[in-house]
Amino acid sequence: MIDLQALPRYDRHQSYEWNYEHVPEPVSLELPNVAGEWRFCGLPVPSPLGVPAGPLLNGGWCLYYASLGFDVLTYKTVRSRTRACYDLPNLQPVDCGHLFGGEADLPATETMAGSWAVSYGMPSREPDDWRADIEWTRRQLPAGKILSVSVVGTVQEGWTIEDLGADYAQCARWAKESGADCVETNFSCPNVSTCDGQLFQQPADSQLVTQMVRDAIGDLPYIAKIGRIQQREDAEALLAAVHESVDALAMTNSIASTVVKPDGGHLFDGERRGICGAATLEASVKQTAMLADLVENNQYQLELIGVGGASCWTDVQSYLQAGAKAVHIATAAMTTPSTALEIRQQMATEN
Ligand SMILES: Cc1cc2nc3c(=O)[nH]c(=O)nc-3n(C[C@H](O)[C@H](O)[C@H](O)COP(=O)(O)O)c2cc1C
Repeated sequence: MIDLQALPRYDRHQSYEWNYEHVPEPVSLELPNVAGEWRFCGLPVPSPLGVPAGPLLNGGWCLYYASLGFDVLTYKTVRSRTRACYDLPNLQPVDCGHLFGGEADLPATETMAGSWAVSYGMPSREPDDWRADIEWTRRQLPAGKILSVSVVGTVQEGWTIEDLGADYAQCARWAKESGADCVETNFSCPNVSTCDGQLFQQPADSQLVTQMVRDAIGDLPYIAKIGRIQQREDAEALLAAVHESVDALAMTNSIASTVVKPDGGHLFDGERRGICGAATLEASVKQTAMLADLVENNQYQLELIGVGGASCWTDVQSYLQAGAKAVHIATAAMTTPSTALEIRQQMATEN
């Protein structure tokens, strides 16, 4: 009998590099089958459960979470060039209620109570390293598990949006060549056209980049990951811009806020960081419902993936009822590795 409480997990007190090297071995769990027919971007899957970009630092972590009952494994965002991780803390627990966007100065806490500020800066190995690791991962993953690879462009001084699009497209092409079943582009990242904006907030730029990525990967399933959108007209403009190129949108990346230490000083030099976990559930489900309504009204052929704050079957149901086809879980899966098993057990008893 495996002691579920003792399942190995990511150690937030250790560096990204340490966690990259200390990968738990896959475990052998008795996973209940989930009733119903589930598809992810058109691909058949045993359940709606997946891990979004972040917790799965490399192929070994993908295999471990596959063994824990997640069916879509998203390889943590990679780049066209190497990038170091920010210093610790990379995961700083915060004490807050539900966030909807626009909050500031959340208190940092010692213990994790469901939500944390995420501060990595999207580190990446050399493309040769991650390409080889993705090839290995796809060969090792059991049939029926989906390997999605998240990529991001890396803005260089003087670049135009076409240059950034070409960088995204290059990474997406490499991911496909390495055997990825799907590619995801992270648009929750700085934009070249507006220094304080993010790509998903600029429909014209998002359109150009998604078209370039689509041209690079042919008909491979393609997901764009977006951040918090509060206004319906902004969501409408983004959907109109990208719906022809993407198969799905994943939301919500996180909700940004500054974080303060007990002594009143700011963490992260006063810069905002993405808050992930329970605090983002309500806002993200609401956003999913708003986009689902727009997708239906406009008859777009596009799926939604619910991400943010889910930790149990009730949360997964909230996303599915809001119109998501799949639900991906990062924070709860890291703090409680048995999360997918527990959700599958809850789903099985209901059917
Ligand atoms: C440790 C960690 C690392 C993350 N790294 C990435 C990343 O590299 N790329 C990305 O698109 N999102 C990243 N995210 C955001 C997650 O994909 C997800 O959108 C977010 O955590 C919300 O889900 P959750 O509330 O279940 O954690 C990261 C999140 C965590 C917790």
